[in-house]
Parts: sequence; structure tokens; C-alpha cells
Amino acid sequence: MTILRLPGLIDVHVHLREPGGEHKEDYASGTAAALAGGITCVLDMPNTTPPTTTYARLMDKRQRACQGARCDVGIYAGASHDNLHELAAMAPAACGLKIYVNETFGPLRIDDATLLEQHIAAWPGPRPIVTHSEGDVLPLVLELAARHGQRLHIAHVATRREIELIVAAKERGQAVTCEVTPHHLFLSVEDRARLGPFGEVRPRLATPDDRAALWHYLDYIDCIATDHAPHTIAEKQSSTPPPGMPGLESSLPLMLTAVDEGRLTLERLIELMATNPARIFDLPIQPDTWVEVEIGPRERFGARPLHTRCGWTPFADLELAGRVRRTVLRGVEVFDGERVLAAPGSGRVLFGTAA
Ligand code: NCD
Ligand code: ZN
Repeated sequence: MTILRLPGLIDVHVHLREPGGEHKEDYASGTAAALAGGITCVLDMPNTTPPTTTYARLMDKRQRACQGARCDVGIYAGASHDNLHELAAMAPAACGLKIYVNETFGPLRIDDATLLEQHIAAWPGPRPIVTHSEGDVLPLVLELAARHGQRLHIAHVATRREIELIVAAKERGQAVTCEVTPHHLFLSVEDRARLGPFGEVRPRLATPDDRAALWHYLDYIDCIATDHAPHTIAEKQSSTPPPGMPGLESSLPLMLTAVDEGRLTLERLIELMATNPARIFDLPIQPDTWVEVEIGPRERFGARPLHTRCGWTPFADLELAGRVRRTVLRGVEVFDGERVLAAPGSGRVLFGTAA
């Protein structure tokens, strides 16, 4: 058995569901799951109810996060069909602008090319534009970001075609970064029958060839991000299961298992899960913030209790070699291998209030 110390990890793509979806997750439960997964900073997506599309809603979310969060949280602004005039006010307090170009869970979607270009042109930064831009819309998004000189981060790349488009853009020198989720690295269409509605997610689980392409181009991938998207078991078993799966607690155990199998080095894992996310999103380096992990005998991931309110994981049946033994945030032990010790409100909400 090997015991190692890693920096506190950063997950740039999580859905903490507050306000409006607290029965699935809230700041307190989602950040407890993060700490149990060795993640000390999360960036929270805007497709809540109501969505984070105005300055007032962003401030309301900051307030809620200040009270509930047990780890550090940054909050995304979302693009909507009527909020161009809000972007400048939201930008200083947001970790980025999220644009949903494809249909997914929640009402946010920009499916008009003119409006898409207007949002891309109008975002003042300093932090990046993040797009949900699958398949056919990806070339347009890359072109618009290049045309307007905007720094672009592509969320959850899932297919060979998408990663090859991004590789080509990087080789042209475009300022583009991307993330891949553990579920697209470890699952594929072949798991759909076994998982049933629990395998429903956007982007959909792809082919084994797509999955192989993500591993093949790992050197071009900037971040591992979970797209932690909790929905309750009852919702997933309903006649209209919402897409999304939780991932905060399984991400590091899965990636450590990949290290154990020689699929990537520990140094590369640290780049993908801490150093690169910090650089891309201008996140503070946290002194005295670290995770103690163990790589050892394989154990069924589902044998351990979860902290996410949704109470399930698509990885329950997998035998994993990596475990989180301890998480320390700014010198304070916040997870002891079993229990989350941090109180709600002890995390920091990043990026000050807007002007
Ligand atoms: C996400 C959700 O449930 O909020 N679902 C998903 O399948 N990934 C929305 C999203 O990120 O697309
Ligand atoms: Zn998402």
C-alpha cells in the first residue's frame, strides 16, 4: 500500500443545485461530498432554479454559499436569451460565463448563432467563457471565440471528433482549454444497459472508440472535471429521468486507480486536477491545503457510504485501488477518511462582490 500527499483538488464543473434543487443537493451536502473526494474547491454551475443570469441572483447565490459551503466555491454566471446587459455587472464576481449551446437539464440554452456571438463578444472576463458545445456546434464556438479574442474552456469533451477539433485548435495556437469527466473516461455505451436511467447524462456516454480517443489525447486535456450532476433515485427511476450523475466522491479514486494501472503519472493527475484548473480560472493557491490518499488493494467503490444527498453512484460496482484518507483545508482537518468535519459556512466564496 502507498500513502501519498496531493494538493487540494479543484473541480471546475459541479452542480450544487441551490437554490431550487435542494432535495438533490445543496451547498452544505455538495461541498461535504467534495471534501470526502479530496476536492477543496468547486466551481458551481448556473442552471439552478432560478438560473444565475442576473447580478441579483449571483449575489443571492454568494450569500447562500457563504452560509452553506464547507469548501471553497466559485460561482458561474449563465448566459440566457435576455441577459446580455447583466454580463458586465456579474463578471467580477463570477468564476466564468457558462453558455449552454446544446439542450440539457434546466432552461438555459443559447441556440441562436447571433445571440451566441453577442454573448461571446460581450463577456468582459477576466475569467473564461465555458461552453457546453457538443459535436456539430463545436467548430462554430471555436471560431467565434477566436474571432473575438476570447479565452474559451470547453466543458465535458466526450467524443473523438470533439477532442480532435480541440487538438487542431490548440495546434493553431488558439487560447482554448478543455475538460473531460471521469464518466466519459471510465464508462461507455456498453455500460448503458447495466446502468439504465442512471447512465443517462449529457453528453451521452459515447463509444469505446471515443473513450479510447480521450485517453489517447490525454496530453491535450487540461482538466478532469466531474460535472457532478446529482438527481434523486426516484427522479432517475421516473418515466422522464433527468440527465446527470454524481461524481465528486468517485473522481479521485477512479483517477488514482488509473495511476495504479500506469495509464497516467501522479504528476499528470496533479496537473489535471489541481494546477491547471487553478491557472485557467485564476484560483488562489491554498497554502496548507492537501489530501492524503492511499493506493492499495482494490475495494468495491459502493461499499463506502456517500456524502452526496442524491445517495447513489454509477461506479458502485467498480473495484477501485484509490481512496481518500484525509483532507486538510488551510491547516484544518476537514475529512478524516469517514466523516466530514468542516461546518457549513467554513468554506470561502471566491471572487469579491462586483462593483
Ligand atoms: C447536468 C445537470 O443535471 O444539471 N446534467 C448532465 O447530464 N450533465 C446539466 C449539464 O451539465 O449539462
Ligand atoms: Zn454540467
